[in-house]
Amino acid sequence: MNVDAQTKVDNAADFDWLQDDVFGRIASRYDLLCDLFSLGIHRLWKRRVARRIADEHWTRLLDGATGTGDIILRLLAHESTADRTVIASDVSAGMLGIAQRRLGDNAERVRLERLDAEHMPSVADECVDAYSISLALKICNRGKVLNEAFRVLSPGGRLVVLEASNIPWGPLQAAYLGYMSVCMPLLGWLATGGDASAYRYLLHGIREFPSAEGLADELRAHGFEDVAFERQSLGIVAIHTARKPWGSQRSPVSEARPGG
Ligand SMILES: C[S@@+](CC[C@H](N)C(=O)[O-])C[C@H]1O[C@@H](n2cnc3c(N)ncnc32)[C@H](O)[C@@H]1O
Repeated sequence: MNVDAQTKVDNAADFDWLQDDVFGRIASRYDLLCDLFSLGIHRLWKRRVARRIADEHWTRLLDGATGTGDIILRLLAHESTADRTVIASDVSAGMLGIAQRRLGDNAERVRLERLDAEHMPSVADECVDAYSISLALKICNRGKVLNEAFRVLSPGGRLVVLEASNIPWGPLQAAYLGYMSVCMPLLGWLATGGDASAYRYLLHGIREFPSAEGLADELRAHGFEDVAFERQSLGIVAIHTARKPWGSQRSPVSEARPGG
């Protein structure tokens, strides 16, 4: 994997996977942590996002930051994906190891690859017609991830993003953040045996991530069209969908990369 250390940090969660292999450390407990942090509601979000991905027209999907494979496992349950190709990638070998194990009999339907979603020089331009990323944009430099998604998507290709968002009614959002500030450290501490990193990043990322409208604007600024979003659970998270325009090669905000 080609890693440019200069490209790290600069994300809503202030996370740097080169400095802290938190997902490698918690890989075996990640699914339990998701249940604890969201009181199990993440299962509904993921079922919904898998359905949204399955309903899009594509033949080849790249799921970035796939983690333990929660989204692709649900996606493969949809009959419409039987003849489609799925590439699931993540920067953490530990998380990919769990994904591999969880895939079981479905393993041959998915290609698992260790990739940094911010910089994927081994993935050719316009080689997939769908790109998805769930609960990871807040811990990545989302500008770089969106540039890469735009680059690897073929014209007309679909983007699906599940990410933390904001509850539009301010007092409820404040109450939610207050609840998370108290419960997340407690649950995280208990579930990880005192490893503070996981919930510190998540909390920071949730607070700093843009609103659903703000992310929609960023997607448009990156050149995506047909941008839409639907809030889930009052707006705790949102599912954004977008399309790379027909006939466009580069994102308007794409950066020149050394060797990229
Ligand atoms: C919160 S988990 C989400 C996993 C999965 N998508 C889900 O919805 O359950 C975030 C994942 O992003 C991965 N990750 C973090 N930074 C990354 C990067 N730059 N490139 C690829 N994966 C990254 C982590 O290793 C972790 O598996």
